Amino acid sequence: MTQPQLKHTNTTPTTAPTTPPKFSRNHAANTSIEHQLCTVLADTYLLMLNTQGLHWNGEGRAFYGLHKLTEEQYQALFAAIDDIAERVRAMGHPAPQSFAQLDRLATLDTLTPATPVPTQLERLAEMNLELARRIKTVIAEAETVGDIATSDLLGARVRIHEKAAWLLRAVAQD
Ligand SMILES: [Fe+2]
Repeated sequence: MTQPQLKHTNTTPTTAPTTPPKFSRNHAANTSIEHQLCTVLADTYLLMLNTQGLHWNGEGRAFYGLHKLTEEQYQALFAAIDDIAERVRAMGHPAPQSFAQLDRLATLDTLTPATPVPTQLERLAEMNLELARRIKTVIAEAETVGDIATSDLLGARVRIHEKAAWLLRAVAQD
């Protein structure tokens, strides 16, 4: 059986792009899977910062559970960022390398530290689910071009984000 051909323009790892990538919030302008992976990377970075911020600043009766859970989650997100960036590079596309690039790519917002901790936990859970939903659309596109490596990587991310949302909401009930 003939394997489906990838549609990516930069499939040869040894070929560097000749023009710099457009890192922009105008996502409609670039619908390549590589670019969408970069937006997932940026949002994963932002989610890690939000999770770490709550790890540092959260207070209250559920502090110990909150502190432990957010530590596990931000460390796992940090590892995921590397996996996603390395997939982007394996596809022959540059990975974003500055806060400015990440900020232009990211779609999630930042937690407001002044709001009650249960509200922040709920918002963090929603962010995990928002990212999971967007990742599913990237998986669907990757599968249409037979990009199994990307769909495998992202399938694991969906499971992790959905579990993270459940755990965050469980702590918020304390
Ligand atoms: Fe810590």
